[in-house]
Amino acid sequence: MKILITGANGQLGSEIKRIASAYPRHQFFFTDVDELDITQYSQVADYLEKNQIETLINCAAYTAVDKAEEEEKKAEVINGKAPGVLAQALKERGGKLIHVSTDYVFNGKTYHPYKEGDTPNPETAYGRTKLAGEKNIREQNPDAFIVRTAWLYSEYGKNFVKTMIRLGNEKNEIGVIYDQVGSPTYALNLAEAVLTLADIKTRGTSIYHYADEGVCSWYDMAVEIMRYKQFDCKVNALETHQYPTPARRPPYSVLNKSKIKNILANDIPHWRTSLLKCLENL
Ligand SMILES: NC(=O)c1ccc[n+]([C@@H]2O[C@H](COP(=O)([O-])OP(=O)(O)OC[C@H]3O[C@@H](n4cnc5c(N)ncnc54)[C@H](OP(=O)(O)O)[C@@H]3O)[C@@H](O)[C@H]2O)c1
Repeated sequence: MKILITGANGQLGSEIKRIASAYPRHQFFFTDVDELDITQYSQVADYLEKNQIETLINCAAYTAVDKAEEEEKKAEVINGKAPGVLAQALKERGGKLIHVSTDYVFNGKTYHPYKEGDTPNPETAYGRTKLAGEKNIREQNPDAFIVRTAWLYSEYGKNFVKTMIRLGNEKNEIGVIYDQVGSPTYALNLAEAVLTLADIKTRGTSIYHYADEGVCSWYDMAVEIMRYKQFDCKVNALETHQYPTPARRPPYSVLNKSKIKNILANDIPHWRTSLLKCLENL
């Protein structure tokens, strides 16, 4: 199968690149904004036609959650409008779309793991723009999987794990929020999950939730990183109001994954096992 990866220089795209050789039956095309801007319909349609793309995995996004509060229009073009562009181009050609969305489409105030059918109610600009992207895909109803994920990290790009390693090297004491919980997700595991979906035939658009197994707070994750790296850095547990940020993140950002578990070949790894694997690779 000919598979196009957009936004391929980001965390998820880089992980797909890393494991692509384990899928020799597929031919991969990796692009990022310099080569293929997902907001531009004609660029996308031409690329699909020229390379006879059968499946497009969209890893491109505007992911600066706090900055999006002041740049919502810019985020909306990439996260909201562009997925509709991809859906339209693929529908016209007859290809499949795998699009990645976020737990932040929920406000995280109902304290139960969110199912795919729960009503989204984002409270951040980033969450609103990602929800707009989902709606724009669903309006076109191409053959598509929308995969909502959470708290991504990897060896690539900017993420919480790399920030903690930097702070562990620089400081003796830091404060990290303990009253926001979620499921840290190694982008490598998500990459494997989306490549499983690439092999599954589908009609119309459906949503799946994928995150690594288990739940923790940012504080728990930071403690685990400092312990594994043997940093002499004390981690203090903070309440959200003690570390104000422009975007108000969901306090309970946990996804129910029973739907995707029915189609994945392997069990979903626990976040701690995955985190240690990433730390070993770093
Ligand atoms: N990171 C998380 O914690 C998290 C959590 C939940 C869901 N997600 C979702 O998971 C997906 C993958 O996230 P990620 O962390 O891998 O993202 P990322 O590291 O920020 O990578 C996104 C990539 O898309 C590129 N891009 C931006 N605008 C583009 C455009 N118009 N056309 C083509 N490429 C463009 C970016 O380039 P520049 O760097 O040059 O802008 C970057 O290389 C995204 O859909 C994200 O919303 C992420």
